Amino acid sequence: MRRFLAFAAGLPLLVACAEGGRASAPPSPAPSVAATTQAAAATERPAEPASCSGKPTPAQTEGPYFRSGSPERASLLEPGLPGSQLLLSGRVFDRQCRALSGVGLDFWQADASGRYDNVGYRLRGHQSTTADGRYTLRTVIPGEYPGRTEHIHVKVSAAGKLVLTTQLYFPGVARNSSDSIFDPALLVRLDDSAPTHSGAFDFVIPS
Ligand SMILES: [Fe+2]
Repeated sequence: MRRFLAFAAGLPLLVACAEGGRASAPPSPAPSVAATTQAAAATERPAEPASCSGKPTPAQTEGPYFRSGSPERASLLEPGLPGSQLLLSGRVFDRQCRALSGVGLDFWQADASGRYDNVGYRLRGHQSTTADGRYTLRTVIPGEYPGRTEHIHVKVSAAGKLVLTTQLYFPGVARNSSDSIFDPALLVRLDDSAPTHSGAFDFVIPS
């Protein structure tokens, strides 16, 4: 098994996804999944400290491939998109570990071959957290490209807060150790023990 990290008890809304074209596996077609996005007014929710330390999520460079104006969608999947499908989910908290609704998350990433769409909006999309601060993203695990390990970019924007720009990484990837930007604090909690992949990451945004 290439990698396996057990989920902590009580992780939110982790849903299965299908194995496809990681480093050694052939790509599999992605199903069409309807985007589900729920926007809500930015309000603070009661604290749920079980998955929140209050330590802000580290910021990272935006990189050269961000494009504004991505479509609002929780699924970046489209017919024929190759790669290992992933359902990433989690919550967004403030530093007091209050879950935040209506927080914008704008995701962008390379495809399974390490290529960004810099003309259209393939594998780009934004959404807002639900009333209890949750988000879900259906996508594929990105491929490596020169100089970089597998990663997903995201901007997390809450009303009245600084925008958090960062990147998420995957455990067990050999290239992580030679990527100068990689930060283990940004590892997704990933379960790839089955043909389906599910991952989780909770954000704590800066004040
Ligand atoms: Fe990148």
